[in-house]
Amino acid sequence: MRRIRIFDTTLRDGEQAPGCTMNPREKVELARQLERLGVDVIEAGFPVSSPDDFEAVQAVAKTITRSTVAALCRAVPGDIETAAKALEPAKRSRLHVFIATSDLHLKEKLNITREKALEMIAQSVALARSLCDDVEFSAEDATRSDREFLLAALNTAIDAGAGIVNVPDTVGYITPEEMTQLITYLKDNLHKGKDGEEVPISVHCHNDLGMAVANSLAAVRAGASQVEGTINGIGERAGNVSLEEIIMALDTRGQFFGLETGINLRQIYRTCRLVSTVIGQKIPPNKPVVGRNAFNHEAGIHQHGVLKNPLTYEIMSPQAIGIYDNDLVLGKHSGKHAFAQRVEELGYTLPESVLEKAFARFLALADRKKRVTNKDIEAIVGAAGYTIPETYRLHSFVVNSGTVISATAVVKLIRDGEEIEHVARGDGPIDAAFKAIDRIVKVGFQLVNYSIHSVTEGEDAQGEVVVKLRQGERTVTGRGLSTDIFEASLKAYLNAVNKIIAQ
Ligand code: KIV
Ligand code: ZN
Repeated sequence: MRRIRIFDTTLRDGEQAPGCTMNPREKVELARQLERLGVDVIEAGFPVSSPDDFEAVQAVAKTITRSTVAALCRAVPGDIETAAKALEPAKRSRLHVFIATSDLHLKEKLNITREKALEMIAQSVALARSLCDDVEFSAEDATRSDREFLLAALNTAIDAGAGIVNVPDTVGYITPEEMTQLITYLKDNLHKGKDGEEVPISVHCHNDLGMAVANSLAAVRAGASQVEGTINGIGERAGNVSLEEIIMALDTRGQFFGLETGINLRQIYRTCRLVSTVIGQKIPPNKPVVGRNAFNHEAGIHQHGVLKNPLTYEIMSPQAIGIYDNDLVLGKHSGKHAFAQRVEELGYTLPESVLEKAFARFLALADRKKRVTNKDIEAIVGAAGYTIPETYRLHSFVVNSGTVISATAVVKLIRDGEEIEHVARGDGPIDAAFKAIDRIVKVGFQLVNYSIHSVTEGEDAQGEVVVKLRQGERTVTGRGLSTDIFEASLKAYLNAVNKIIAQ
């Protein structure tokens, strides 16, 4: 079995997509989960793009010990030096240098000649190599580049010391057959590395025509040995290739591909869920591998078959990717030790302060809910991970609504031990409650998104509310979890408000 490396760019390319912004704390939380998943490389950001991104890359570099942490930089000295600085604390680091190679991008975007591009590649890769042993070079818009020029660009990067070269299908344009030909051509003609060994080829496919998975798989069949993509396929426009789909295709069709990854499959589902929670975007129900319907069988004839033998309609098992039966796991008399043990069995290693907070949430939930399930615990743990200073805490609330009176809400918050209460009217009880909070906190921002979904099943299911607040250029996401949707909404709103205040 040839080993395929998985390069995750959820925190960089994924985060660039509208509505997917993540702050440094969220990136660290996700990076921890990506490491548990077993990805080979975590691209944590583009440090020169903003002080926040610099901080995020540095924080991820400090935290991660097993995966390589990569940072993106254009082929210019300032970017490379900044990225190298952000990566300084990393145990294993990679500088990812890119420049476009298609004539369209060279002329319209960069306004430089091919010769100039080659010069910039040679200089920037050499500089990157002087600062980091592991350098990846990417030829942006590679698939629309002149083939001979693309080869010259990649060979220039190899001669300057790049240890891996990446072929991005930046606009999701190529087809699988063309990808096979391109990778075969490059494999046959690329220079050897400084150590005399073949230099690995990576692919990075976008999904504009829905062919990102097929194109990436065609590339690895033709000899590429690294796939770049994102969890849930998030990314610019139609997104990047979904890594969970690549990983499960290689695993489920192992005999056909003869390729393996170092991924811990059982962490797939919770990684996808965590990304969805962090960015506040639901996973579509028909999403391959992790959508809610991926293992649901509605038609009688299918149900009959699956009951007899799941293989009739299931080509992979839900357990394989970490979806477990929603069995009763703990009750309100379970102690902290039992809770901690279950959290660990579910694959989470939490610092004591976060565990403490999660346990408090568990006790509160167990008081209200008859059945506390693994999914409940995962939701609690996910929410407890985002430890931000709680400037305002919810003390209590009362909401009133109906068809004959306008909705009102009374909300009481606590700040520095002091109770502050306000009342407001609104277009519905949630709007009224949010307005009451606005009156207490007196910080200017705008609510740009509100969504609610249930994280568990049954009448006493926990609802998760995600809100997005915008203040100037910045958008923050707030989450709240409760069996009561009003409470979940208020918690989500306050979580976002506290983030704005903390920044
Ligand atoms: O899509 C793309 O071309 C990229 C590169 C910067 C690798 O994301
Ligand atoms: Zn990309």
